[in-house]
Amino acid sequence: MKNWWKETVFYELYMPSFNDSNGDGKGDFKGIIEKLDYLKNLGITGIWLTPFYQSPKIDNGYDISDYYSVDSDYGTMEDFEEFLDQAHKRGIKVIADLVLNHTSDQHKWFQEAKKSKDNSYRNYYIWKKNPNNWESFFSGSAWEWDEGTNEYYYHKFAVGQVDLNWSNPKVREEANKILEFWMDKGIDGFRLDVINFMTCEGITEDNPMDEKGEQDHKFDINQPGILDAIGGINKCVKSYGDKFLVGEIGSENLDVLKRYRDDGLLDVVFNFNLGSKKNFDAKEFYDEIEKMEKDLNGYPTIFFGSHDMPRHMSRFGESKRDIERAKAVATFILTTKGVPFLYYGDEIGMTNLVANTLNEINDIQGRTNYKIERQKGGSHREALKIANEKTRDKSRSPMQWNSKENSGFTTGIPWIKINENYKILNVEDERNRIDSLFNHYKKMIRLRKIEETLSYGEYKNLKYIDGLISFERVYEGERVYIYINFTQTSNIVLPDGVYEVLAGEAKNILIKNEILILKKGRK
Ligand code: GLC
Repeated sequence: MKNWWKETVFYELYMPSFNDSNGDGKGDFKGIIEKLDYLKNLGITGIWLTPFYQSPKIDNGYDISDYYSVDSDYGTMEDFEEFLDQAHKRGIKVIADLVLNHTSDQHKWFQEAKKSKDNSYRNYYIWKKNPNNWESFFSGSAWEWDEGTNEYYYHKFAVGQVDLNWSNPKVREEANKILEFWMDKGIDGFRLDVINFMTCEGITEDNPMDEKGEQDHKFDINQPGILDAIGGINKCVKSYGDKFLVGEIGSENLDVLKRYRDDGLLDVVFNFNLGSKKNFDAKEFYDEIEKMEKDLNGYPTIFFGSHDMPRHMSRFGESKRDIERAKAVATFILTTKGVPFLYYGDEIGMTNLVANTLNEINDIQGRTNYKIERQKGGSHREALKIANEKTRDKSRSPMQWNSKENSGFTTGIPWIKINENYKILNVEDERNRIDSLFNHYKKMIRLRKIEETLSYGEYKNLKYIDGLISFERVYEGERVYIYINFTQTSNIVLPDGVYEVLAGEAKNILIKNEILILKKGRK
């Protein structure tokens, strides 16, 4: 079946770091509007906006205090509407990141809920006199004592991110109202944050510990009632027509992932099988797409980066900036079967940010790990090292637009350090160089758009031989052959008959990181 999202190349736009229009050092909607032509020129047809709702931002917006308003750092509701309109005029769809697992502790529901045990909002959250052993994903217990009412409340992430009680029908009604509000504004779909984490069955047994002595999150996530809850979200969203639902499922286990991929649940699952690869290993990439093809029903998502993981340019390169390999990776993302999600800055090969002082670390995960290391008796230096390893700020530095002051991102003081390499690594230079990574992305995206087979085609002859990944995509009588060679030199056997060269050079030997794309039947 045809759906717009199967043909879309998505671009994750990290709100605070894309483009600042008013000099306050943080990205905003007006800033994004200025760059929509840039995205259109690159070929992007879908934007995933990270949370832009009112928030105290202890976790950069993943702690919403009002679902119905735009955070003033990012502009006004009118700015949002103007942005959406301008994006749509350019043929770009927009999906909003929505956090329904938890709210900020500043949200009025929670402010009410903690007033007393019989407050009408009390049951929007989860309270216990005696907490169990469940741990927060940001470290420590998932339970926080509330002085006022003498009970603990439950938070799977930070203390300021309070879990909603999804067994309460009122919470589900509120969620539907929120979804409808943004769809009425014209949003094209949602990225549902940590959606398999929602507490739908309440608090059950203690989690067991694994061999490493770490908690196995057996009972606190993927609770049985979750499918019913997501089904409710799906029903509401699909009542608006062809809207798109992608859910973040915190798992690499395909048996878990496939439970959520269903037309009545999530269109696609944001699965970390490729995203969490720490090092470059073509065989591992191949194994993942083969497994996804075999075991996951429907379309997988294809991505190597997001705001939660280090930049793949830094993870994968043999040298600091291995452009040839990055081009081969880009080809992989845009030709394999699935919905591709690019992360802002990856199109120019942005690299990880390194903090020199604690002040340069904003991310709650980085700062929490610093604190823990200090409490364990570690020196400032050791703790900073650990914070640098754990922080997700690595991939959150401002977009590098040009070599001018502050990389053209802001005229003010940037909210987070700008990667020092912006003088030699920026959009302006990349666009001007014919053989740049940017121009390679652009070419591959265009190819994907022209050749429907790359969006809809089934795999044939999916193969891996010594670092060479090759496959065919077949759709309605058309056949495209793809060869991505990650190894030294590889021999390939060109297909019989007539074909057209879509990318690369048709020859029997490919050198390292060389690609070749052919199409059967035309010259
Ligand atoms: C998701 C987000 C991450 C956030 C967490 C808690 O994993 O991608 O950035 O910290 O949810 O909301």
